[in-house]
Amino acid sequence: MNVRSPPRFITLEGGEGAGKSTHVQRLSQALASHGIDNSVTREPGGSQGAESIRTLLVEGEPGRWGPLVETLLMFAARADHVAHTIRPALNAGKWVICDRFTDSTFAYQGAGRGMGYDTIREIEHVSTGGFRPDFTLILDVPVDEAMNRIGSRHHAEDRFEKFDRTFHERLRSYFRELAQREPQRCVLIDTSAPPDDVAQQIWNAVGARFKL
Ligand code: TMP
Repeated sequence: MNVRSPPRFITLEGGEGAGKSTHVQRLSQALASHGIDNSVTREPGGSQGAESIRTLLVEGEPGRWGPLVETLLMFAARADHVAHTIRPALNAGKWVICDRFTDSTFAYQGAGRGMGYDTIREIEHVSTGGFRPDFTLILDVPVDEAMNRIGSRHHAEDRFEKFDRTFHERLRSYFRELAQREPQRCVLIDTSAPPDDVAQQIWNAVGARFKL
C-alpha cells in the first residue's frame, strides 16, 4: 500500500462500448504494480444487494421502467454499494476503482431519459449524501464505433444498448461536456486508439493527478 497518499476513489465513465471493463482492470494492475492496494467494483452492483437490483435494471426491454423508478433503483443500488463495499474499502486504506458511478445517472437517466438534474441531485443527497469520486476518467468513443464494437455482443444485460441512437448521442454529449465543466476532477480519454495506448493515457492521467 502507498503510504504517501490517502486512499482514493476513482471512477471510469462513458457510454456503451467505450472499453471501461478492460481499462478498469488495467488501471487496477498498474496501481498494484506501484504498490497501491486497490479493489475494483462496478455499478449498478458491487455489493450483494446492489447486484440483485442490477438485474432489474439491465435486463429486459427499454420501457420496463420509467425514468423516475429507474433513477430510484440506481440510487437504491448505490446506497447499498457505498455502505457495504466502497466506504469499508476506503476505510481499510484501499484505493477503489469503480466502473461507473453517479455521473452515469446524470448521463443516462438525466440527459438520456429526461429526468431533471435538480431532481437527481435531491435523490443523490438523500441516498449518498453527495459522496463523489476523487477522480473520473471519461472514456470517449464516437457512437458509430461504439455500436460496431457492441454489435457482435450477445448478452442478457443489453437493456440500455437497445435505446435508440439519439439516446446514445445525448450520453456522449453529456460526458464530453462534463469533462469540460469539471476539469479538476474529470479527464476525457479518447478510446479510438489501441488499448495499450489508452491504458498508458489513463495511467499518465492518474499518475499526474495523484503525483505517483
Ligand atoms: P455496464 O454495462 O457498464 O456494466 O452498465 C450497465 C448499464 O447501466 C449501462 O447500460 C449503463 C446503465 N447505467 C445507468 O443507466 N445509470 C447509472 O447510474 C449506472 C451506474 C448505469
